[in-house]
Amino acid sequence: MKYLKNLPFGPLLAASLFTTLVSCGGDSGQENSPGIPPVNDNSDEGLVYNGPVAENDDVQQFKLNVWDNLAGDDRCGGCHNEIEGQEPFFLRRDDINLAYETILPLVDKTAPVLSRIVQRAEEDHNVWSPAAADIIQNYVEAWATATVSASQNTIVLTEPDILRTVGDTKQLPASPDLYESTIYALVTNTETANCVECHSESSPARQQPYFASAVPSTAYAAARTLIDLNNASSSRFVRRMTEGHNVWADPTAAATPTAYSVQEMTAAVISFIDQIEDSEPFPEALPISTAQYISDGVVANSGGRIETDVIALYEFKEGSGSTAFDTSGVDPALDLNLTPTVAWVGSWGIRIEDNGKAFGDTASSKKLHDRIKETGEYSVEAWVIPANVVQEQARIVTYTGGRDVRNFGLNQNLYDYDWMTRSENSDANGEPMLSTPSADEVLQATLQHVVATYDPIEGRRLYVNGELISEDGNGDMAGSINDWNSTFALVVGNEIDNASWWEGTVRLLAIHNRVLTEEHVLANFDAGVGQKYFLLFNVSEHVDMPKAYVVFQVEVFDDYSYLFSSPFFISLDRDAVPTGNIPIKGLRIGINGKESPVSQAFASIDEVVSAANYDAATGVPLTMDASDTVTASGTLIGVQNGQIDDLFFLTFEQIGNASYTRPVESTPSPADPIDLEQQPEIGVRLFDEVFETMSAITTVPSARVSELYNNELRRSLPSAETAYGFLSSQQSAVTQLALAYCTELVGDSTLAGAYFGSYGALNSASEREAVIGPLLDHMLVNSGLETQPDPAAMRAELNGLIDNMTTNQTSTKVIAVCTAALASATMLMQ
Ligand code: HEC
Ligand code: HEC
Repeated sequence: MKYLKNLPFGPLLAASLFTTLVSCGGDSGQENSPGIPPVNDNSDEGLVYNGPVAENDDVQQFKLNVWDNLAGDDRCGGCHNEIEGQEPFFLRRDDINLAYETILPLVDKTAPVLSRIVQRAEEDHNVWSPAAADIIQNYVEAWATATVSASQNTIVLTEPDILRTVGDTKQLPASPDLYESTIYALVTNTETANCVECHSESSPARQQPYFASAVPSTAYAAARTLIDLNNASSSRFVRRMTEGHNVWADPTAAATPTAYSVQEMTAAVISFIDQIEDSEPFPEALPISTAQYISDGVVANSGGRIETDVIALYEFKEGSGSTAFDTSGVDPALDLNLTPTVAWVGSWGIRIEDNGKAFGDTASSKKLHDRIKETGEYSVEAWVIPANVVQEQARIVTYTGGRDVRNFGLNQNLYDYDWMTRSENSDANGEPMLSTPSADEVLQATLQHVVATYDPIEGRRLYVNGELISEDGNGDMAGSINDWNSTFALVVGNEIDNASWWEGTVRLLAIHNRVLTEEHVLANFDAGVGQKYFLLFNVSEHVDMPKAYVVFQVEVFDDYSYLFSSPFFISLDRDAVPTGNIPIKGLRIGINGKESPVSQAFASIDEVVSAANYDAATGVPLTMDASDTVTASGTLIGVQNGQIDDLFFLTFEQIGNASYTRPVESTPSPADPIDLEQQPEIGVRLFDEVFETMSAITTVPSARVSELYNNELRRSLPSAETAYGFLSSQQSAVTQLALAYCTELVGDSTLAGAYFGSYGALNSASEREAVIGPLLDHMLVNSGLETQPDPAAMRAELNGLIDNMTTNQTSTKVIAVCTAALASATMLMQ
C-alpha cells in the first residue's frame, strides 16, 4: 500500500508551483473567527478550550482543523499534553499558541503526507483507528488549505537519492502466448497446481484474481500484476506458495508440498521471464535522461479540497483488505465493507466487479441521517470511472432501505446521471429524480467528478467536471427531509439486495452536510484525485549546468494509464544560472527501456532556456506557445509492468549540446497523415489525428462523419484548461465520434461484411472474436502501437462488456463494443 510515504528527504530547495498545479482553495469559506474558542464537536469528550486566544489566523486554523479533532482523551491528546506530561506537547490544553509552536516542526503543510504526526500514526503509534494516519493527514490538509495562499503554495524538490540508468528493463509482452505456455499451463493443470479449481470465473468457487480463466487473455490480464519481472521469487505467484496457499504434493514425496510448489512455481515464472525478448539498444547519439520509478518521485501537494462540512469521506488509499475506511474523522466512522468481487485499484480507488458492493452497516450509516438532519441539506461528491455507457438504473451510491425506498441515490442510466432525493415532496424512493439531459451524453466511461446537492429551498443540482449541468430551477422538489429513515445503509456500487449493480471505479467519495457552492465544486474538481508526484529526470550530462533536471508532474490516471503533464526545466542548485542558450527539443517519454510508441504529445516541444527566462525558483516551463504563455498539456502513457515496476526516462532530439536526428521512419504516424506537427495546440492536434485514425481503424471514410465532427465535436474542445478538464471533455467528444464511426460501420452491410465477416449473436467465444479480433487488429496496425494498450486486457474487457449488456439487439452490441474499443483513452492519445 502506501509505499511512497517514507520518502527520504535531503537538503531542501523550494520551487513554487505554477500553471495548473496551484491550488485555488485559498479562500475556502472556512469560518474564521479568531478569539472565539469553538467547542470541539467531534469528540465525545466535548473538550472545551479555555486558554488564551489564538495569536493569529494560522494558529486559529490549526485549532479548528487539528487541535479540536485530536486533543480529546480518546485521540493523541490523551497523552501529548502538559497534564499527562508526554512530550511533545503538541496538543497542550493550556495555551493554543504554545501547542502551535510545538506542532510546527511535526507537520509539513506543503506535503501533509510527510508530516511527522502522520508518519507516527502510519507506524501504528497509539492509534485509535487503522485509518488514523489518513485521517490526521486530512486534518493537516484542511489546515493547509485554509491558510496557505496560492503564492505560498510551494513544493520542495529534492535531488533523487539514486540517479538510475535506463538499462534494459524487461516489459511484459502484450500477447498472452508466453504466459499461456508457461505459468498458465501450470496453474490450470488439474493434476498438479490446480489453481483453476478456484481462480477462474467459470469455476464454482469464482475466486478473484482470475489468472486461470478459461479465456487466456483474461487470465493474462489478471496475472500481470502477480509477476515481478525483476525478481521471480518476489512474484505474488511464488510468494503465495511460500505462504503455503493451496500447495500441492511432490509426486516423489522428496520435498514438502510447500517447498515443491515454490520450486515448480518459481521455475514457471523464471521460464516466462527468460523468454521475454530484450528491448533494442538506443542509438549512440540519442540524448537520454536518468530514470525514475513513480516511487522515486517527490510527493506533490494534495491540498486544495474543500471539506469543511464533510461527514463521511472515502479516499480508498488502503489498496488491500475488505474494508474501505471513512477518513472524514467525524465519529462514528462509517467504514465500508467490501464484498469479495470488489477490487482495489492502485491509483486509489475500488472497482465494483461482478455484482459486488461496498456497504456500511445501518448503525454507523445512521451518522448520515443524524448529521444531515441537523442541517437539512447535503452534497454527495464522487470521482468515478463508469465502466461503460450501456448500464441502466445502476446505483453508484445510495443511502437505501431496499430497491424502492431510500433517502438518496446517485445512479447511472446509460449516458445520464440520475439524482434521487427523498423529501416531503418526493416519493419514498426519492423520485421524481433529477437527471442530466440524455442528449448531452454527459456521463462518459472515463474519470469524472460528479457532485449532487440538495437543499430545502432551492432543491437539487448536478455538477459534472465542475460544471453545473442540471438543476430543479424551482422549489417544487425541495422541502424538509423530516421523513428520512434512520435505519438505512450507505451502499456503493449496488442496491442493498444486489439488484442494481453499477460497474465502475470509485476513486473518492465524500458526503457533506452542506451544499457545496459552485465555487467549492470547482475547487474540488481542480484539486483532482489521487496522489500526484514530480518525477525528476537528470540531464546534467547534456547541459552546462549542475543538478539540471527536466521535471514532470505525474499521476496514476486510471488502471491503464499515467497522466504526464506540465514539464519544466530546473537546476536544483539554487545559485546556478544558464551560461548560454540551452535548447530543448523533441522530448519523448520512455518506459521500461523503450520510448513509448504512442502518446508523444511533447515531441513537438521546442524551447530555449537562457539566463533571460530562467527563474531559480520555478525553472522554465517547457510548454509555452508562440507568445510565451504556458499551455495546459497532458498526455496519457499506458501502464505496462504495474505502478511499482514501470521505470520512466526521457529522450530528446536536442538538449544543450547533444542532439540526435531521427530517421524518418521511426516516427509513428497516423494511417492517413495530415500535416499535424505545425499546429500549435496540442489538444486540437490530437483531435484531428484521432479523427483520421478512427477512419482508418473502422474503414469508414471520414467524410461520412465530418459534418458532426466539424459542426459539433471539434469546437467542443477547450484550448487551455486543467489537465482534467482537457482530458474529460476531450474523451467525451472522442466517444461521440467513435459512436458515429461505429454506427456507420455496423450499419453499412458492405463495410461490415468486409470488416467482420459474420458474427452471429455473440454467444460463443468465436462469434465474439469475429467482432473483437478485427477491431483490435485494425487498431494495432493503424495506431503505430507496439505494446499498448494491452490487447489481452482489452479483449477481456470487451468480452465483459458483452456479458453485461442487457439489449437483445446484436447490432447494438456490436456498436457498443466497437465504440468502447475505439474510444478507450490509452488507445487514442497519440
Ligand atoms: C498512550 C499515550 C500516547 C498516545 C495516545 C499517543 N502517543 Fe505519541 N508518544 C507517546 C510516547 C510514550 C512517546 C515517546 C516514545 C516514542 O517516541 O514512541 C511519544 C512520542 C510521540 C512523538 C515524538 C517522537 C517522534 O517520533 O517524533 C510524536 C510526533 C507522537 N508521539 C505523535 C503521536 C500521535 C500523532 C498520536 C495520535 C495518533 C500519539 N502520538 C498518541 C505516547 C502516546
Ligand atoms: C480452494 C480454492 C483456492 C485454490 C485452489 C487456490 N486459491 Fe488462491 N485464493 C483463494 C482465496 C479464497 C483467495 C482470497 C483470500 C486470500 O488471499 O487468501 C485467494 C487469493 C489468491 C491470490 C490473490 C491474493 C494475493 O495475496 O495476491 C493469489 C495470487 C492466489 N490466490 C494464488 C493462487 C495460486 C497460485 C493457486 C494455485 C497454486 C491458488 N491460488 C489456488 C482460493 C484458492
